[in-house]
Amino acid sequence: TMQPLKVTVVGTGYVGLGTAIMLAYLGHQVTGLDVDQSKVDMLAGGELPIYEPGLDQLLRDSKDRLRWTTDYTTAIPDADVIFICVGTPPNADGSPNLRFVAEAARSIAQNLNGKVQVVVNKSTVPVGTGDWVARIIEDNAREYSSGRYLVVSNPEFLREGTALYDSLYPDRIVLGSDSSLGIERMRLLYAPLLDQSFEAPAYVPRPSNYERPELVATALSSAEMIKYAANAFLALKISFANEIAGLCERVGADISEVTQGIGHDKRIGHRFLNAGAGWGGSCFGKDTSALISTGSEYGYSMPILEAAIAVNQRQRSLIINKLQQHLHRLKGKRVAVLGMAFKPNTDDLRDAPAHDTIQRLTALGATVVAHDPIAMPRARREWQHLSYTEAESVRAAVRGADAVIIATEWDEYRELDWNALLVDMRGRLIIDTRNIITTQPDRCTLEQIGKRSGVGVPHLPDADVLAEEHPVTIATGAQA
Ligand code: UDX
Repeated sequence: TMQPLKVTVVGTGYVGLGTAIMLAYLGHQVTGLDVDQSKVDMLAGGELPIYEPGLDQLLRDSKDRLRWTTDYTTAIPDADVIFICVGTPPNADGSPNLRFVAEAARSIAQNLNGKVQVVVNKSTVPVGTGDWVARIIEDNAREYSSGRYLVVSNPEFLREGTALYDSLYPDRIVLGSDSSLGIERMRLLYAPLLDQSFEAPAYVPRPSNYERPELVATALSSAEMIKYAANAFLALKISFANEIAGLCERVGADISEVTQGIGHDKRIGHRFLNAGAGWGGSCFGKDTSALISTGSEYGYSMPILEAAIAVNQRQRSLIINKLQQHLHRLKGKRVAVLGMAFKPNTDDLRDAPAHDTIQRLTALGATVVAHDPIAMPRARREWQHLSYTEAESVRAAVRGADAVIIATEWDEYRELDWNALLVDMRGRLIIDTRNIITTQPDRCTLEQIGKRSGVGVPHLPDADVLAEEHPVTIATGAQA
């Protein structure tokens, strides 16, 4: 019962590309539009401007239903559904810059055909932006007027690195609109995914306990809020784990055991409680700040989110503190940084903990040699302001190093033979900020996050002393 729709996706960044290719795979006729001619040329030539596992294959499998253009006049009039997936880079105060959203909305409006066309916000935009986009459309539409019902908010929850899996087997599809017409059109669009028998291609394995996604239809502003609230909650889960991890180190407990233990409570759950270098990436920092800045517009403070951000910042300094604890002055020390991407399976460097680590190390006079299995070419372009040298292998990175910092938990770093690598190092210090080393290498100092460290258990008086100081009196009838 698949009904192919004509879809235009404006913005071929990370979210736009994923959306366009996925919808074409589902059987829709998709036009990807970007104002950047070089991106369009690249895509038309079958090449992707970003790295995402499996996306190149999905692009090949869907290319008959995909075209790429810079031209609004041909991309908009025929489209049943138009996605806005342009970037919303942060302003200096943390609020998202909506310039590109406004430009896209204006260009879309000028080319609408006067029939029912649904404009979908997929960019992460502050609550209220849907209404604002509807107004821009009404003000600029030549053919069409009176249509706030056209605007739907359809937030994206995919993670980089598992984007295909997340968009083909989502937990939920959130659709926010103030009219049922927009929702119904979107239900048609996603119909294949909502079918229990849906099978993605073999290179995106179906989860064993697959249940079809929940379709959550809400008011426009609720859908906008759901996106922020989801990311903020995930960010604070991580900061919570990191805060408890710090206390674990001090009292001699092990954060992995602790989160394992609390996670069995289904109300808490095991996921997203890994302590480590703190969160990074393009979303959590931006979205938590945006939520706080929306709050402040209304004179409303958000102390929980502010604390989550503060804990995340502290977590990054902690890595340097751990180095200093062992190496003391870092001036003249050689430090290998393994992993530059903000997380594995992506070359995305935005807000990566490794960035701050390299910056602080060099500010303190250390020499940095960095390695990443995928992100080094991108770092060459985007991290020109940092001073470090690239190593073509882990072995080359650690050679002669006083210490090594594992900053990203790439699989290839999990399998390293540390006893062999340590031989080439000058020092024998490993700071494993992702807790991926499971067996202590010989004669080396291994610092992890939230694990028993040299600090040890705080002194507790022994039981006899305790009994003397605080004798337990058993209340009897006579004494009472
Ligand atoms: C995130 C959300 O997961 C996604 O739903 C949203 O749409 C966009 O933002 P992404 O930024 O791709 O996705 O990365 P994610 O895998 O969620 O990781 C975010 C950061 O948190 C990474 O820096 C990661 O290392 C860190 N993290 C994650 C932890 O430190 N501990 C954890 O337990 C989980």
